[in-house]
Amino acid sequence: MSDNKIYQASTTAPVNIAVVKYWGKRDAKLNLPTNSSVSVTLSQSDLRTHTTAACSAAFGPEDTLLLNSSPQDVSGARTQACFRELRALRSALESADPSLPKLSSLPLRIVSENNFPTAAGLASSAAGFAALVRAIANLYELPSSPTDLSRIARQGSGSACRSLFGGYVAWQMGSKEDGSDSVAVEVAPASHWPTMRALILVVSAEKKGVSSTSGMQITVATSELFQRRAEVVVPAHMKAMEKAILEKDFETFAKVTMMESNSFHATCLDTFPPIFYLNDVSRAAIRVVEDINKKAGKTIAAYTFDAGPNAVIYYEEENADAVAGTLKSALGELDGWQGREIKAQSTEGVDA
Ligand code: DP6
Repeated sequence: MSDNKIYQASTTAPVNIAVVKYWGKRDAKLNLPTNSSVSVTLSQSDLRTHTTAACSAAFGPEDTLLLNSSPQDVSGARTQACFRELRALRSALESADPSLPKLSSLPLRIVSENNFPTAAGLASSAAGFAALVRAIANLYELPSSPTDLSRIARQGSGSACRSLFGGYVAWQMGSKEDGSDSVAVEVAPASHWPTMRALILVVSAEKKGVSSTSGMQITVATSELFQRRAEVVVPAHMKAMEKAILEKDFETFAKVTMMESNSFHATCLDTFPPIFYLNDVSRAAIRVVEDINKKAGKTIAAYTFDAGPNAVIYYEEENADAVAGTLKSALGELDGWQGREIKAQSTEGVDA
């Protein structure tokens, strides 16, 4: 291209927290999971990635990515897969309409900012890759749906495919070898169950010890519990969870969420050598949630933990004092945690 015009587009993407967990890859190259998963998308006002994608003949020659002002390596297979797939879609549009500018051959300059600690077990890679894929899709003016883009974002980071939607989202594991049916779909929009809330207890904002990517690969290779989880436990949890969401049945939602978290962390412990993501503060949070539910005489709070010690507690708005209030005062006496209350869902996924 002869001119040095800069083309650009921006977007934001939310974090999601799984209530049925993805843990295990059946194909590491295509990033295909061993089981389906479900998540709740959190409000963007508290946790989100903002990304601007630009391209120009004046840049380059390499593609670049800045995250919170630090240059990132974009040569990894996952980022490259996202760039390649998005460029191929743009290139198809350019071939069909020769009047379009040839953006697919220009170097990309991506700038991302998180408004929360990166890699602190707060699903930063999910929002990060969802925003990256959506920003480039916007730049390239691709007519792709969130589900189409989820297939690409999945290759950046599995959990990212679920951040293309707001509300309640399922990542269907799919069965095709090429991964074309391993995509995210909406279970219900945020407006379906607007009273859902989440409290994130930031036990530690440090980078996690064992990354999800390597942790789950060691689990698949060594855990005996893992196979049962993938084949029996998760399919049952998926069914119960989707039904609980559609029926707004908080008690079932909460029980499945907690049993899922426990099953996932049991599998981590059954990995050899074992992976410990929970710490003493995490376990104290579990006990406080149990006490809250006992005192209420029904299940009004649910805990879940990803690959780190930070707790996410789900509850309904009407129980905010009983849940968030009790947790803050009970755990506030312990060292090493900061409470942070956030609304559990956004009204939308990434900005189109
Ligand atoms: C425990 O999506 O970070 O948060 O695909 O290797 O990037 P990669 O893994 P990642 O794993 C998330 C694991 C989890 C559970 C979940 O979000 O479903």
